[in-house]
Amino acid sequence: MDTQPSRLVQAPPCGSIADMTSPTPAIAFENVAKSFDHGRLIAVDGVSLTVAQGEFLAIVGGSGSGKTTLLRLANRLIETDGGCVRIRGDDVQSLDPIALRRRIGYVFQSGGLFPHMSVADNIGITPRLLGTPAAEISARVDELLDLVRLDRGRHRDRFPHQLSGGERQRVGVARALAAKPDIVLMDEPFGALDPLTRDALGEDYRQLHRDLRLTTVMITHDMAEAVLLADRIAVMRSGRLLAQGTPEQLSSSHEPYVLQLLCTPRRQAERLQALLPQSASNDAPSMAPR
Ligand SMILES: Nc1ncnc2c1ncn2[C@@H]1O[C@H](COP(=O)(O)OP(=O)(O)OP(=O)(O)O)[C@@H](O)[C@H]1O
Ligand SMILES: [Mg+2]
Repeated sequence: MDTQPSRLVQAPPCGSIADMTSPTPAIAFENVAKSFDHGRLIAVDGVSLTVAQGEFLAIVGGSGSGKTTLLRLANRLIETDGGCVRIRGDDVQSLDPIALRRRIGYVFQSGGLFPHMSVADNIGITPRLLGTPAAEISARVDELLDLVRLDRGRHRDRFPHQLSGGERQRVGVARALAAKPDIVLMDEPFGALDPLTRDALGEDYRQLHRDLRLTTVMITHDMAEAVLLADRIAVMRSGRLLAQGTPEQLSSSHEPYVLQLLCTPRRQAERLQALLPQSASNDAPSMAPR
């Protein structure tokens, strides 16, 4: 567990956008701060980070380092204490939180499906709140089930407890995409899955990200997953942004923690290579479930 950091940056509120020449990022965190327990617990401590339109950013960091808190500040599930969050240049404080959440798909850390609602109702909840006609919602649900590779006939009317963990995560992704957002925030979407399902879901989502031209921010504990899926990686520790960049840029970081995180997948791969017979490591067919 990360320990509490020692300072809280008292950031000024949003000012005007200084640089009008570079393209507007999809998301910009500007010196963002958030504390809990009347300021005693500093969860996010002066984080500045931008996510370009169409980019896939992974946020990596230990438990309690502030990853979920940062993500929830982007769509105003919680409010900042200082600094500014912009979505496509707009200060989120100036936007209606409900409208903002419709523009941004969110996949919750624990799946977050409504247990008493069927798969179809879970996926269709945002369009229904938007007043979309029932026939249109039904067609959209089918389209989304196809998109996340769930069988319409078998899964549409099931309840969350009748699904496997991987299927539930697929429904979570479908629900996040239901209102056709162009930004998707994912909080450890594939965390509790077996490695094959996890790998397959990650690849599938990466394809969706490309095809639908999404901007994605994905929290993960797994540096290998971050390197494989994301364009850029942000590393958080004790509420602060320790480093950000491509895997190559991160590998020249001076932060021992960042280097340690980056080295772990390679060390594991080397240890596996040494332990597994050559045929198992080279010739494994792809058996990822669909
Ligand atoms: N609503 C809240 N009230 C009080 N403290 C909170 C609240 N939400 C988060 N915290 C605290 O803020 C810190 C950061 O929490 P956060 O959920 O952002 O961590 P995280 O990096 O997502 O961790 P994990 O990897 O375990 O999900 C933690 O110490 C947590 O206990
Ligand atoms: Mg979290």
